[in-house]
Amino acid sequence: MKILAIESSCDETAAAVVEDGRRVLSSVIASQVSEHIVYGGVVPEIASRMHAQAISGVVSKAMSDAGVGYSDIDAIAVTYAPGLIGALLVGVNFAKGLAYSTGLPLVPVHHLRSHIAANYISHSNLEPPFLCLVVSGGHSHIVAVRDYTDFSIIGRTRDDAAGECMDKAARAMGLPYPGGVNLDKISVNGDASLYKLPHPRVDGSEYDFSFSGLKTAVVNIIHNSKQKGIEVSVPDLGASCIETVADCLVNNTVKAAENYGFDKIVLAGGVSANSRLRKRMDAVCKEKGWKLYMPELSLCGDNAAMVGAQAYYEYKNGNVADLSLNAFATMPIDFCE
Ligand code: KG4
Ligand code: ZN
Repeated sequence: MKILAIESSCDETAAAVVEDGRRVLSSVIASQVSEHIVYGGVVPEIASRMHAQAISGVVSKAMSDAGVGYSDIDAIAVTYAPGLIGALLVGVNFAKGLAYSTGLPLVPVHHLRSHIAANYISHSNLEPPFLCLVVSGGHSHIVAVRDYTDFSIIGRTRDDAAGECMDKAARAMGLPYPGGVNLDKISVNGDASLYKLPHPRVDGSEYDFSFSGLKTAVVNIIHNSKQKGIEVSVPDLGASCIETVADCLVNNTVKAAENYGFDKIVLAGGVSANSRLRKRMDAVCKEKGWKLYMPELSLCGDNAAMVGAQAYYEYKNGNVADLSLNAFATMPIDFCE
């Protein structure tokens, strides 16, 4: 089964053709980074307009790269939630137009589910059940993936997402957008022990996260150093910030895996590209004798191939929408109609 998938939830306009949920025939991504860089972050209005401009060409290229026509396609899939609402609506409406004109079924895909599904492309043998740490710019979840379309949230952030925390910390350190990526790069050889940052805990939950205090601690170190005329070492402070975030993410995931009895761990979302997090997760899984799956780096960030992968399983489960499909800025991953 060949699915044409579309993604426009944030600042990448993407389209892909994916066969049977696992084989990527094409994947095209038009990044808007250069447009948003001057503002230090994504400007939603600009994102929507750029999606509107790019989407037709991106979809055409995905079709021609895959060497297929619409008669070869079996379904149209689209990210419909969660994300920037104006951005999502561009993809959803384009997909609806395609479904209407071709008569093909329309498959709505949850963005975080698709991040998890990126792993089905990278690891052809991976099947649920498993425990997944999904970490992106807007979400940080520990999710029990019981089946391809059956999810339950075990832990979540109470405030900022891991990516958001690193983006804000990076910005405070004077690094350009996209902050998390640049923080990762600059702190590769940094000494994480030079700056002490608090390890935030959440009262009443051993699986939830809280990252907003960490960001504030980073900002305070920068301000205090400035006042004293001391230069901050960005590689070392960055390393400390990432290590602290990774500590929280890894520790809670380990607790959840032990208590819920999972020995298969999956990493997903934009932050799963982080080099320190990958190393830490790899080390702990080796120590515990657990199997770890991480998406290849090109599939960690937003792309449409992962949408096509998840759409295959959504379709098989009967999750097909009609032309009244709407987009939603928020939507829990375990939502089912
Ligand atoms: O999944 P994603 O591409 O978009 C959302 O769904 O939010 O995640 C974007 C987030 C951003 O916060 C970005 O800074 C972060 O992922 N990110 C990273 C790295 N690459 C992307 N954070 C830390 N290290 C990285 N290498
Ligand atoms: Zn994402």
